[in-house]
Amino acid sequence: MSEEEKKKISYSGMQATGMLHLGNYLGALKNWIPMHDEYECFYGVMDLHSLTVRQDPPQFRKTAKSLYVQYVAAGLDPEKNCVYFQSHVDAHPYLSWILSCFTYMGELSRMTQYKAKSEQHADNVNAGLFTYPVLMAADILLYQATVVPVGNDQKQHVEIARDIAQRFNSIYGDVFTVPEPVFGKNARRVMSLADPEKKMSKSDENQNATVFLLDDRDTIIRKFKRAKTDSGSEIIYSSEKPGIMNLMDIYASVTGKSNEEIEKEFSGKGYGDFKMAVGEAVSDALSGVKNRYDDLMKNMDYIERCIKENNEKARYVSGRTLSKVRRKVGLTDIL
Ligand code: TRP
Repeated sequence: MSEEEKKKISYSGMQATGMLHLGNYLGALKNWIPMHDEYECFYGVMDLHSLTVRQDPPQFRKTAKSLYVQYVAAGLDPEKNCVYFQSHVDAHPYLSWILSCFTYMGELSRMTQYKAKSEQHADNVNAGLFTYPVLMAADILLYQATVVPVGNDQKQHVEIARDIAQRFNSIYGDVFTVPEPVFGKNARRVMSLADPEKKMSKSDENQNATVFLLDDRDTIIRKFKRAKTDSGSEIIYSSEKPGIMNLMDIYASVTGKSNEEIEKEFSGKGYGDFKMAVGEAVSDALSGVKNRYDDLMKNMDYIERCIKENNEKARYVSGRTLSKVRRKVGLTDIL
């Protein structure tokens, strides 16, 4: 058995909607980048999941491709990681159907994301929104992933994938690896710069609330300068200072410094200095992403070659699991 085959498997992905922002980067993507040393990694552009919300077809096609290129521009190497589109691999919706027959209405209706999304899109509470976690379980279980590096908000979804895997295994034997969610060191979510009580979101109406991966240096610094801070003037990590707390989390995450080190660094200095330092540190961390993105967009041949090669690999690996599942549940052989 080769080195490659002995590595444990990691699986993750993001929905193909909108531009990546600092929350996506610090909460997930940044943690994915070094993982290929230890794991064999699969990352999907989760375009089937995006269909739970109505999409404009030409725009959607562009956004999905753009997400792939943003992954790569941010440092995810498509030659060391299997980066691919979920919708290019038929095994995903196929296994999702089978798993939906092993998932209870009750457990799906307890999902907090389903409850939130169905309020947010009250005019389109479709069945896909409800079975979203089953497709996600299929994504993960098809690749026999041991770990799933995600942001905190996905914890419940990985847990239901574990429950489904265990339930299936208890009936049919060891078919699926039971996956474990893993979170980055910086466990707190990145909050909106305009309202630190709210999660940073790509669709925020306030232009200054969200820092995008492809923002230029001046824009990033301007957004941090305008970040909402709290009363008082000291840079200390306290739940009474949600604005400063958010900025400290961001600063800690991009510089690797501890809260104590940051407090020391800025003792005697004001919010203005601190905001400027965070803005600079973030734009340093993201420097090059925009240029690499522009270059890659001009060289789609390279990206397309990676997509094709990785598709083959994803189809092969997921196909093995799907064949096993078909056999276990008693579906007839395909002649
Ligand atoms: N639900 C995830 C999100 O919104 C995206 C996702 C879909 C995913 N399938 C997955 C993440 C499988 C990890 C593993 O971010």
